Amino acid sequence: IFPDRTEACRILAAEVAELVRSINNAGRPAVLGLATGRTPLPFYAELIRLHQAGELSFANVISFNLDEYLGLSHGHPESYRTFMERELFSHVDMRPENINIPNGNPDDISARCAAYEKAIRDAGGIDFQLLGIGRTGHIGFNEPGSPRDSRTRQVELDPITREDAAPSFGGLEHVPTHAISMGCGTILEARKIALLAWGDGKASIVKEALTGPITDQVSASFLQEHPDATFYLDAEAGSEL
Ligand code: F6R
Repeated sequence: IFPDRTEACRILAAEVAELVRSINNAGRPAVLGLATGRTPLPFYAELIRLHQAGELSFANVISFNLDEYLGLSHGHPESYRTFMERELFSHVDMRPENINIPNGNPDDISARCAAYEKAIRDAGGIDFQLLGIGRTGHIGFNEPGSPRDSRTRQVELDPITREDAAPSFGGLEHVPTHAISMGCGTILEARKIALLAWGDGKASIVKEALTGPITDQVSASFLQEHPDATFYLDAEAGSEL
């Protein structure tokens, strides 16, 4: 628990930069699993600052995003591909061919999802996975009921998740009903995981995820069993612990 999100992101970004450097020094690309939403914004700002200060290069980084809304038009301002370009990729030296984000308009959903899983495996698995947490306890878009061993697939968004997204879409009627998301099993195979949460609104679900029963009703609770998963919280998000 940190006094504020800026400090939490400063510490985590330094750790991630060190991880990327040490993996690159060992002669292979670092594989990062990335998240979208409001939570990672100060973390991406800090990664960009480190890049501009010459302390972090993404030239040898491969990224896999957790999820993408289904059915948004190409270049839609709320698509997660647009988000990642705007908030991170356009500011750093990522190679476009190393960026992986689920396709939100797939012709054959199950074939695309299987190919996404294979691409993660072919890259050698995820070294570091960044997560936020939804009020439903979701990681990625693994809403209540998502099995522990679920893989990348089409998911239906929980009404609470759609409600939380409504302001940025200009109304609930514009929020997609479905998404493509890495599964709980996909996420839990990452070698190192950091979950970020800020503000009062996340305090009760953070408490449930960390101290409640391990259950598919709160997919973040599966992180209790991961050998290297850490929650980075501000004082408000950690206030019920
Ligand atoms: C985003 C994602 C979601 C969000 C979660 C929190 O890629 O997979 O799990 O991390 O919905 O969203 P924010 O950060 O907007 O509160």
